[in-house]
Amino acid sequence: MTEKNQHEHKHGLARGLTNYGDSDFSIYLRNSFAASMGYSREVLKKPIVGIANSFSGFNNCHRHFPELLESVKRGVLLGGGLPIEFPTISLGEVFLNPTSLKFRNLMSMDIEEMIRAQPMDAVVLMGGCDKTVPAQLMGAASSDLPAIQLVAGPMMTSRHEGERLGACTDCRRFWGNYRAGKVSDQEIRVIEERLATTAGTCAVMGTASTMACITETLGMSLPGTAAIPAVHADRMRAGEATGLAAARMVDSPIRPSELITENSVENAMRVLLALGGSTNAVIHLTAIAGRLGIPVSLRRMNELSDNTPVLVNLKPLGSDYMEDFFYAGGMGAVLRELKPLLHLDTLSVTGETLGDRLEVDPGYVDIRIIAKANEPLEPQGGLVALFGNLAPNGAILKRSAADKNLFEKEGRAVVFTSLEDLASRIDDPELDITEDDFMVLQNAGPRSASCMPEAGYLPIPKKLSAKGVKDLVRISDARMSGTAFGTIVLHVSPESAVGGPLALVQNGDKIKISVKSKSIELMVDNKELQKRRDAWESNITPLLNRRGYDRLYAGEVSQAEKGCDFSFMLPIEEKNT
Ligand code: FES
Repeated sequence: MTEKNQHEHKHGLARGLTNYGDSDFSIYLRNSFAASMGYSREVLKKPIVGIANSFSGFNNCHRHFPELLESVKRGVLLGGGLPIEFPTISLGEVFLNPTSLKFRNLMSMDIEEMIRAQPMDAVVLMGGCDKTVPAQLMGAASSDLPAIQLVAGPMMTSRHEGERLGACTDCRRFWGNYRAGKVSDQEIRVIEERLATTAGTCAVMGTASTMACITETLGMSLPGTAAIPAVHADRMRAGEATGLAAARMVDSPIRPSELITENSVENAMRVLLALGGSTNAVIHLTAIAGRLGIPVSLRRMNELSDNTPVLVNLKPLGSDYMEDFFYAGGMGAVLRELKPLLHLDTLSVTGETLGDRLEVDPGYVDIRIIAKANEPLEPQGGLVALFGNLAPNGAILKRSAADKNLFEKEGRAVVFTSLEDLASRIDDPELDITEDDFMVLQNAGPRSASCMPEAGYLPIPKKLSAKGVKDLVRISDARMSGTAFGTIVLHVSPESAVGGPLALVQNGDKIKISVKSKSIELMVDNKELQKRRDAWESNITPLLNRRGYDRLYAGEVSQAEKGCDFSFMLPIEEKNT
């Protein structure tokens, strides 16, 4: 391709020129500066595949990215493209304050704008840790350049005294035992160094693994790649294949808007329910779909949940880990079992339909880990949304990780007004609480000072855990780690920090939940509730007293059922309706 042609067709380096008022000068200058990096003229004529690399010293899950990056570059070169890596924001789940969710939208804006502003013909998105993949998919959906997601892959498990350990369900189990006095100070320090021992994302069906499976279902990553362990040689082969596929997309572009459709989003929701996947994924899938104007409804989720079986026996619901899921058949096996429930005309980045993919011989499937649809672990989906006067816009319960004995229950509210209040009183021997009570946490939603942390897994008060109590109903507007378990009602909306009904709950009130009727009711009469509403005052820091990203976030973040995205990031027509 001549330089003139290169410019006219706006491929490679000639895309999106820096504006000096003279486009020929712009390409001349850009070629010149690119040449300063040692690229030959021949190479600079190639189509460019950008590689959005979220490697960071603050992200343990991505520590193998330098090696994985090389395999992606090799694939792009094989496909005749020029791979150019660029750094982006990275979100290492446990290294961010107040919580990673606050920065997911910031990362999505970084991804979108850098894809759009820099000259590339296709892009590979390298992410993995909880919020990174949603952020990358949101940004890619908004920019709508041909894009392929490459996930980090899960960690391998470790060992402690003959027992397998994997972050982070086992982190919580051992911490619970430590709080109950069953694990010593010395042993918990040993366990601390054994929970996460390889590169990769958490080893169970937590948020990162759930999002990897959802990404494959949406068609945004190569088939069969979601579950490959981070340190397995197949992960590097997947990197090479991803780079090659991205280079091929330059000539046969498939855009995110052709992959993320109403049908593929519904398939992804089915998969989430069949995995017994993370509650966080509901928020992320809603936000990703929202970037293309596709609504996700919690009532529709309930309809799908009623006839989607839980198939995957991984922690936190079951007994096994992501490496077992990989060897058991991975996402291909799950999709095959769900086939009668799925839309088979959805596309993947390879250009094949889901129906085409599922025609291929499934190979070995370990049904101890991926159950047959006619002999499922649970007949109904892992998640259910509850509605009622306490959550008019919905709340989420991961029923597959909860104690069924607590599904139809009325309890007395024991209220904590903030995370600080919780921390200061949870282990007070004088705390008035029994195992029949409902713990309620307020001011932990998206607009609260804590920005919706994974704090919905309220610890069992020491006085109860010492007696052997392992679960009780806990209700909040917070989120929960995908690796956690318990009878935990989350994402109550509208949240308490904006005056939602959760803000009106007082100690001693009766609350009734029913999983059967999908309801959550505060048993306080309307007159009394109105009195409390009239007396309620917001404790959110006013926008005028905030600055920078904190101000943008606080002013724009939406409620959980809208995906906690910023309204101004939605497509224009969506925003105006
Ligand atoms: Fe990164 Fe769990 S900390 S996936």
